[in-house]
Parts: sequence; structure tokens; C-alpha cells
Amino acid sequence: MNCGLVRAEVDLDAVAANTRNLARLVRPARLFAVVKADGYGLGAVPVARVALASGASGLCVARPEEGLALRAAGISAPILILGPTVPVLADQVVRAGLTPTVCEPGAAAALARAAEAQSRPLPVHVKIDTGLHRYGILPSEAPAFLNHLAQYSRLRVEGLWTHLATADEADRTFAYEQLARFNEVTAALPAVALRHAANTAAAVDLPEFRLDLVRAGIGIYGYYPSRHVGRTVALRPALTLKSRVIRVHEVGPGETVGYGRTWVARRSSRIALVAGGYGDGYPRQLSNRGVVLIRGRRCPVVGRVSMDLLTADVTHLPEVAVGDEVVLVGRQGDEEVTLDELAELAETIPYELLTRLTPRVPRIYVGSQSVPEADLPEGTEKDLR
Ligand SMILES: Cc1ncc(COP(=O)(O)O)c(C=O)c1O
Repeated sequence: MNCGLVRAEVDLDAVAANTRNLARLVRPARLFAVVKADGYGLGAVPVARVALASGASGLCVARPEEGLALRAAGISAPILILGPTVPVLADQVVRAGLTPTVCEPGAAAALARAAEAQSRPLPVHVKIDTGLHRYGILPSEAPAFLNHLAQYSRLRVEGLWTHLATADEADRTFAYEQLARFNEVTAALPAVALRHAANTAAAVDLPEFRLDLVRAGIGIYGYYPSRHVGRTVALRPALTLKSRVIRVHEVGPGETVGYGRTWVARRSSRIALVAGGYGDGYPRQLSNRGVVLIRGRRCPVVGRVSMDLLTADVTHLPEVAVGDEVVLVGRQGDEEVTLDELAELAETIPYELLTRLTPRVPRIYVGSQSVPEADLPEGTEKDLR
């Protein structure tokens, strides 16, 4: 049993509500829940199960291994692999009934061979690079590439998709350019069942990008992609990152706290030592910048965040004691430290804060959604409260 002081409570009711709201918003387009990077750090299998039960009709992962892990957990819904499939994994991908994205002749040949050997049909999606310039084939190459794929009788192009560079920026001009390029190239290709382009930002703000399918990640977890995305759909944060006070002590004026002596007490101060540091995924950039909640009040992080510990100034809260709950991210009483707020202070994005939670932080699933024990990663307690 993992009784760690630092724990990530994942509210699966929030995941369910967010999925329902997004699915309703984008209908008749289908909603695929993006659960790559272990469900944005919160647990791919529990999140996937709840999303599928709440209106998602499929899942997206970045890598074949992530899809194989979902199948191993017994998830049978469609799973689209967004990134490349290396030929050595082709057999497993076909056997598991995953849907690869193919953009290279080598991968296509390996997948087609595996499908032939297993006498199975293989739906694939083709990614078109309309300007993000990462993975994908250029619009000018698309007709020849689709023609090339047509030689493989087991292989069926089920989807064509693209990914947007600026869907969550204030200026969406380039996103519209990408959509125009995508519409133009796909209109000239044989029709497919699923054309898709939208992430959460586009799904929420740009209805014409929803097409046949929406790939929503961050919104499923209850966060908006950026401050530029309209708060037009109800999203509830799924994560509360909690810890406890493990020591309270006084430091006199002129004394310093933590490595590098970066914080100097200007008056007699009470300092709460809190379990939690960058070894748990709490960014070191929040040294002397972050804020935590204790007894429902905001307390500034003072001194350097270290690997396992951080320190907070609780001079204004004389009642703080060892064992008090500390909320590092989320709500406590009437106060809240939002993931957005911390991301801004740490000069990063909510996505990174979620996915950097380290394996030693137990994910504890709360809410009325049931998670079969078998779905829980090793060392996870269903509810330690
Ligand atoms: C190709 C692709 N589609 C969709 C998403 C989901 O994006 P979001 O989490 O902003 O909804 C991602 C995430 O990075 C992605 O890489």
C-alpha cells in the first residue's frame, strides 16, 4: 500500500462530466479522448474507461506501446495512434486492432505485410502536414501517397487528418489557412469516413474545424488549452495535488531558508516544511514564486523547491501544525490554486505540469465512477482518504 504524503487525487466524475460536455458540444462529430502520456499524467486506463463511458467513441495515443497497454487492460474501443509506428511493432499493432497513422512507405509496407500475414483488414489514417511541419505528408505528396497505399488490399484509409499550430492562440489566422489547405487537399482525394483537425481549442472555439471527429485531450482533464480559448464549455479540473506539513518552525530576521539561501526572513517567520518537490513533478521554477493552500489560505512558497521538499511561509497562520493537509494544485475550502496559475508562474503550460507528475506520486481515483482494481497502476490506491 502506498501511503505517500504527496498524492494526486484524480476526480473521475470531473473526467466524465468534461467528456459529456465536450461530446455534446461537438456532436454530430465524434469525440476521441486523447490519453497519450499516460492520460496526461493522470492514468490512461482509468481516464480512458470513464471517457468511453461518458460519450467518447474512441481514444488517441501518441505511440503504439500506449495503445497496446490500453488493449492489455481490456479496452476494445477504437484507438488511433497519432505518431509513427516503427515497422518492428507492425505485427503487434495489427494483432491488437490499433489504428495506425501512416505517413511513410516503409511503415505502410510493414503494416500491410502484417495485415496480410494475419488475414486482417487494417484501417489506417493518413496525416497531412498543412503547416505545423512536424509529422505528416505534404499536401502536394498526398495524391501519390494515397495511390501508393491503394496497392495494399488489406489496408483501408479510414481517416485523413491534420494538426493545428495556433488553435489556442489569440490570432487564429494561420489555423484557418491550415483548414483551407486541408479542405482543398482532401476534396481532391478519394472520400474517407473520418476527416479530423480539431484539438480541444479548435473544438471549443472553432465549430467549422470539428469535421467528422475531434481529438480532445486537455479539455477531458478539465483544463482550457490557453487563456485565449473561450470559457464556453463547462470544464472541471480533475487533479488535486495534495501533501502534508511535516515540520513547522520559526526563523528569525536575517535567517535564510533552503538551498542557495535565496529567501531571507525580513521578520520572525513561521515556516512550514511540506513534502513535495521537483522529484514529484512540482517545478523548481516555483521557488520563491509558487503558492500552496494550508487551512484554506494561500501561503507563498519561500526558498528553493528541492527534490523532495518545499517550504511555505505560514507566519499569517499561527494554527498551522504538523499533519495539516497542503494543496499544491487545486481547491481547499474557498481558495484554489489553479493549474493555469502555477503554469504561468513556472513559465510553462498546464499540459507540462500534468505530464511531469512523477511515478512516485500515487494517483488516487475519487468520485462515483468505478475503477476496477485491475485497471489501477501498481502501487495505486483507489482512495486513501
Ligand atoms: C495530434 C494531436 N491531436 C490532438 C491533441 C490534443 O490536444 P489538446 O490536449 O489541446 O486537446 C494532441 C495533443 O498534443 C495532439 O498531439
